[in-house]
Amino acid sequence: MSDWVVCGHPAVRDARSWRGAVRTSSAASIVWTDSPWLLETRHVTSSDHWDQATADAYDEDTAELSTPEALAPTLDVLERLAAGGRVLELAIGTGRVAVPLTERGVPVTGIELSEPMVAQLRRKVDVRQIPVVVGDMATTQVEGSFSLVYLIFNTISNLRTQAEQVACFRNAARHLAPGGRFVIELWIPPLRRLPPGQLAAPFDVSDTHLGMDTYDLVTQQGTSHHYWLSADGPTRYGVTNFRYLWPSECDLMAELAGLQLEERTADWAGAPFTSDSKSHVSIWRKP
Ligand SMILES: C[S@@+](CC[C@H](N)C(=O)[O-])C[C@H]1O[C@@H](n2cnc3c(N)ncnc32)[C@H](O)[C@@H]1O
Repeated sequence: MSDWVVCGHPAVRDARSWRGAVRTSSAASIVWTDSPWLLETRHVTSSDHWDQATADAYDEDTAELSTPEALAPTLDVLERLAAGGRVLELAIGTGRVAVPLTERGVPVTGIELSEPMVAQLRRKVDVRQIPVVVGDMATTQVEGSFSLVYLIFNTISNLRTQAEQVACFRNAARHLAPGGRFVIELWIPPLRRLPPGQLAAPFDVSDTHLGMDTYDLVTQQGTSHHYWLSADGPTRYGVTNFRYLWPSECDLMAELAGLQLEERTADWAGAPFTSDSKSHVSIWRKP
């Protein structure tokens, strides 16, 4: 694995103490730049890289899921679990959740692989409001400990190997203070809708978006295909690759990371988790 660290923000360059703020899983060289990023690490990762076009369209594509009403149950849970402490969002993206959480007075730090996604976040808040380390959530470490680490919107699946997903749980646990919590929001792969011979399962069919997943049941690999339809422009196609995992596999990864399951619900509003649930919100606690 090759990695390097780029420390870019002038405030960081000027404060030598920040050199210790990011550690990587193996030897890394440090390069100072004029880029607006607080700190940046690069790793070989199995995750797809979210490019400029995807980042530019992200907030619009997720608008329905990002209204104050839609986000309120998520923010309520995260604010409660933060319990007045610092919070770390893995794969913070454009700050869809982190920005309104910060507005509630919760101090949020982020780790994010994609610079274009962070650039979108930077249009909303500056580095003092939400510091972000650009790097791989399975390996990048930031300074200090947190009362809550969260990884939502199915994003653990963006790590496409089991080893990296385990590493991500361990990285989350590493950042937690004793008694702190790790929260994951993850969909349940709809394999019951895949009879023999059927290759794809649609997950969204609307006037503006057609989405379907294809699965390899041997390797637990999958691909999401998105077609965004527009009345006055060309249809846009986007693809993301993932590794699906079950709640029980998450629990095993949590146990390997020294975490204990505290609560599992079907959604942020606290609906009971059942065999028909399409998603889960799981909370593990560091003893
Ligand atoms: C579905 S978006 C979620 C963003 C944000 N958490 C939200 O709820 O809107 C997935 C994000 O995960 C990031 N990502 C994917 N793989 C990653 C990795 N290995 N480390 C850090 N971020 C990653 C992508 O760049 C993207 O910003």
